[in-house]
Amino acid sequence: MTTNVEKTVEFKISRFDPTENRRYDSTFKVPIRRGTTILEALLYIKDNLDESLTFRQSCRMGICGDCAVNVNGKPMLACYTQVLDLNMDQLLIEPLSNAPVIKDLVVDMQPFFDTYKRIKPHLIKPADELKKPDEFPQSPAELKKYWDLTLCIKCSICNSSCPAIIDEKFLGPSALTATYRFVTDSRDQGAGERLKPMADNVWLCTQCSSCTLFCPKKLTCAEAILEDHSLIVETGDIPRTVKDVLESVYKYHNPMSTTQSKRMDWAKDLNVQAYPTVTKADVLFFVCCSNVYDLRNQAAARNMAGVFNGMGVSFATLGSEEWCCGDHMLRMGEKGLFEELAMHNIAMFRKLETTKIVTLSPHCYNTFKNDKPYKDAGLKVQHYTEFLAEALETGKLKLTKPMNKIVAYHDPCFLGKRNDIFDAPRRILRAIPGIKLVEMKRTGQSSFCCGGGAGRVWTEDALPEKRPSTNRLHEALDLGVETLAVACPYCVTTLEDAVKVLDVENKIVVRDILELVKEAM
Ligand code: SF4
Ligand code: SF4
Ligand code: FES
Repeated sequence: MTTNVEKTVEFKISRFDPTENRRYDSTFKVPIRRGTTILEALLYIKDNLDESLTFRQSCRMGICGDCAVNVNGKPMLACYTQVLDLNMDQLLIEPLSNAPVIKDLVVDMQPFFDTYKRIKPHLIKPADELKKPDEFPQSPAELKKYWDLTLCIKCSICNSSCPAIIDEKFLGPSALTATYRFVTDSRDQGAGERLKPMADNVWLCTQCSSCTLFCPKKLTCAEAILEDHSLIVETGDIPRTVKDVLESVYKYHNPMSTTQSKRMDWAKDLNVQAYPTVTKADVLFFVCCSNVYDLRNQAAARNMAGVFNGMGVSFATLGSEEWCCGDHMLRMGEKGLFEELAMHNIAMFRKLETTKIVTLSPHCYNTFKNDKPYKDAGLKVQHYTEFLAEALETGKLKLTKPMNKIVAYHDPCFLGKRNDIFDAPRRILRAIPGIKLVEMKRTGQSSFCCGGGAGRVWTEDALPEKRPSTNRLHEALDLGVETLAVACPYCVTTLEDAVKVLDVENKIVVRDILELVKEAM
């Protein structure tokens, strides 16, 4: 039975005409009924308004993966997505990213399938075993290990949202997830051979988690790639740069190869209490290796201390007993090392009596909140942007000094995509008098990674044009903003590096929100 038209939605479609090599937009008004999908809306346009509109579709039920497109910047299956669920009156429909466009919304999937072939997506066994007529039985427990990863429909949505794939050396989340699927299959005997094609490039994955976030079949691709990292770490066949980072943390408990006794140097002339001098405070300020040792990022630590003091907050750090939180180590696949760091930090959290932990880095925040054993330790943790947004609301923090700036905010993946914290940083920026906050094209959940996660901040050796950081900075430059605000020390490092690489120091500056807050107090 046909339902009533609920509303009319404007579809703006980004198109490409290959005969004239021309990109252009077309806009259509489409009547939407309850249950109308994006695909049905596209079919309505083709049948009634413009028969030249070109897009792919086949099964119309989320199985073939053909109909994937970008809707308002997010990749999704057109046949799986109901228009009314998006709650918008205007929609921008674009072809998937990271693939050459053939015509309108149709992209060339051949490179995707060529890469897929490279990982041998079939069981590998000695030839004589394959000739035997016997079945290869499996227990339900063995099947369960990889079953969820078999549900991939090869839609390429994960690849289209992946920042690492701008370097064609990278195999991409779909192929890397499938590799792990076969390695964990008890019938497969190709583990050694499977790891080789990824050994020199799997490290380009920043663990931003876009692939997991957007996969329509809910495959946990980022987690599978973490397991790939782990398998390669176990073989010891890892690049020198990765080895150096891991060895530094083994030896010094931080990735900067600096002695822990220098961990409070950033606070030398400031009023900052630390364990064991104090054993009680309202807030445990977890500073992060980057803010402690990186001279540039010490500014954020100093500013946070200033803000705490300005607000009269009783706070203390763990001093030299603060070890690396281990987030990067875990994402690089070094689970044992991560566990050691976590156990130490949890023991220290118990020694310093506090009501909550406030972190500067989204990476510390994420791992304290989401990764065992931290997750099981019952920690109350806030990222500093949540803490300050709350303080603004209660009137404990006042931002009064104006600054005339046009600012864009770059969402750090470990704060946004992984923890849904999109609003608090923006509330702070909007509260600073004189700041005009503008949004980048790829924003919120669709934000584009800075390229620093999973240790890549220390191991980056890609050509500048293949780095996520330069790609992201171009976007900010195209927007014409003079300040790119971030809320993560690793974003500061990668994006500031991009400013230098692109030689645009006179056009744009990267500032942690804390620097702006301190100036506005
Ligand atoms: S992993 Fe998910 S997003 Fe990626 S190709 Fe498979 S189904 Fe699509
Ligand atoms: S986690 Fe991010 S960088 Fe890694 S494969 Fe997924 S989308 Fe790409
Ligand atoms: S048409 Fe097959 S998944 Fe959408």
